[in-house]
Amino acid sequence: MSLVVSSHPIVRVALSRLRNKYTTHEEFRRELHRMTQVLAAEAVSYLTTSICDVQTPLADAVGYELSGQQALIPIMRAGSGMLSAFLGFLPNAYVWHMSMSRNEQTLQPEFHGSKVPEKIPWNVDTCFVLDPMLATGGSACLAIEHLKRAGATNGLARRIIFVGILGAPEGAERLQKAHPDVPIFIGAMDERLNEHGYIMPGLGDAGDRLFPTM
Ligand code: PRP
Ligand code: URA
Repeated sequence: MSLVVSSHPIVRVALSRLRNKYTTHEEFRRELHRMTQVLAAEAVSYLTTSICDVQTPLADAVGYELSGQQALIPIMRAGSGMLSAFLGFLPNAYVWHMSMSRNEQTLQPEFHGSKVPEKIPWNVDTCFVLDPMLATGGSACLAIEHLKRAGATNGLARRIIFVGILGAPEGAERLQKAHPDVPIFIGAMDERLNEHGYIMPGLGDAGDRLFPTM
């Protein structure tokens, strides 16, 4: 289960719209949200539940609630487009934004700051890292290293899960090698990276398509 590539039809359809260069930023936001909803449903299916009592209008029944506490870590900018879909399933989750950007020349991620606590509280059992694009894997690895330094995986049953829209084989391999304990959920695996580090055929620059500046 360390790399799960969705085969859901809604994911395929939404991704085709995201890829289309004629898709407007308004549609892009909507399709990213829709696609993330399905990926979030798949990724949260690994969370555990505990039993609780519930009274229907007619009788007592057995109910379930999610156990534990989750944290969502959207990688700015593009990861913020995945946040609301996750909050739809996990309205109680902590949200710790992390800001970085990839240097266009070196392709290395540059860290700008984060709201991850210095020491992650003991009650947080699952940290979901949200970033649409897994290209060279540098940004995902940096985010996960930061979370691990803050204790995200210290202790039993504490884990980090990466959720993305689109991956390149190079990035998935790098992430799996560096962090074999981190399951990866993505909507599709593309062919390769081009000479500028872009996923091919890809969807272009996810941040620019979500947040056009003109
Ligand atoms: C994109 C994307 C990832 C990163 C992936 O962000 O959202 O964070 O590139 O590339 P990598 O796997 O090679 O590190 P970018 O740095 O372009 O910033 P943005 O979200 O502000 O556009
Ligand atoms: N970041 C993007 O937004 N797109 C890519 O193809 C690679 C990195």
